[in-house]
Amino acid sequence: MRTPLCDMFGIEYPIFAFTHCRDVVAAVSKAGGFGVLGAVGFSPEQLEIELDWIDDNIDGKPYGVDTVMPQKAVDVHGESADDVLDQIRSMIDANHWRYVDELMDRFDLPPLPEGEKPGGVIGWTDEVAHRHVEIALAHPIKLIANALGSPPKDVIDQAHDHGVKVAALAGKAVHAHRHVQNGVDIVVAQGYEAGGHTGEISTMVLVPEVVDAVAPTPVLAAGGIGSGRQIAAAMALGAQGVWLGSLWLTTAESGSSPAVLEAYLGATSADTVRSRCYTGKPARMLRNAWTDAWADPEGPGPLGMPLQNILTSEANARIARSSRPDLQFAPVGQVVGRMNDVRPVRDVMYQLVEEYIETTERLHQGLEG
Ligand SMILES: Cc1cc2nc3c(=O)[nH]c(=O)nc-3n(C[C@H](O)[C@H](O)[C@H](O)COP(=O)(O)O)c2cc1C
Repeated sequence: MRTPLCDMFGIEYPIFAFTHCRDVVAAVSKAGGFGVLGAVGFSPEQLEIELDWIDDNIDGKPYGVDTVMPQKAVDVHGESADDVLDQIRSMIDANHWRYVDELMDRFDLPPLPEGEKPGGVIGWTDEVAHRHVEIALAHPIKLIANALGSPPKDVIDQAHDHGVKVAALAGKAVHAHRHVQNGVDIVVAQGYEAGGHTGEISTMVLVPEVVDAVAPTPVLAAGGIGSGRQIAAAMALGAQGVWLGSLWLTTAESGSSPAVLEAYLGATSADTVRSRCYTGKPARMLRNAWTDAWADPEGPGPLGMPLQNILTSEANARIARSSRPDLQFAPVGQVVGRMNDVRPVRDVMYQLVEEYIETTERLHQGLEG
């Protein structure tokens, strides 16, 4: 499984793990892969704490940080997270507030305990994402990745000045080409099957298109990869490695809540939908009554990013507290159909590598006769 990316990062296997959970980052890197911590859900202060913990628990292995800097960010500025939240709230119309109230009644969601204030995700505002980058670069990271487009030029230059490589996700060859022109070192070609924000082209079609569009820039294949056979397929398509997000959500180290974990373990690969209900941009998650309510033609439909998440933050917090598996926000890709048990990251990594070796040997034997 060795490719030039293994030498670039000093890793054994070119298996990159996107996760919001610091324990998964450390476990993947210690098992020979490369853990990448998603920063978007953390305040700058909390990100600092997470990265300190990783530095203390990763045994000096390499890791990275992923930020979300959308190309068209809403212009909000504030001294504190509360200022930013207030500004975003003031941009939301009464009709949408009414609809969320109606949904919270319809689903009979218990109110939050006194004093508990719902926050909401602000990591994808320009200002917070830039603070994430500054904090990340003060730690011994080896990679900064960005989800929704190329990172801005100042971020790419800053990363390179620190000797840190830059990756960006792409759902189309034309976007991948633009990333490389902007100075990105590695492209993550992420197909339609993927969990989280995703485009409309399947991994099988996308990866060779991106590989050819950006050669010799290395490409990681993402979307629908959850086994050694799928890693072998990705390598056959020209990728130099793989980038997995969903598979870690049911590992023993993952921070998935019991209700969300139950929903993942019971789901089939037909149970996901691309919905704008959580972030305002199409993201893949388990379909349920909540995603249906936001697709209802009788309703007002979702707002854009970052408004939708702030609009629904109280409802999201009440749903999470309700522990109802039929309503939980459960972002995941189509590969969820094969995520049927809870195992430690080390076992998952071992099985990926074992199955990859078996697959490539089987293919060789087929060629020999
Ligand atoms: C729960 C979840 C959250 C995600 N959040 C982000 C994110 O914040 N930034 C990002 O670059 N990608 C994010 N992604 C996408 C992953 O980086 C990755 O490309 C994707 O999970 C790969 O497809 P797979 O889910 O089939 O493994 C997320 C994916 C999942 C499953």
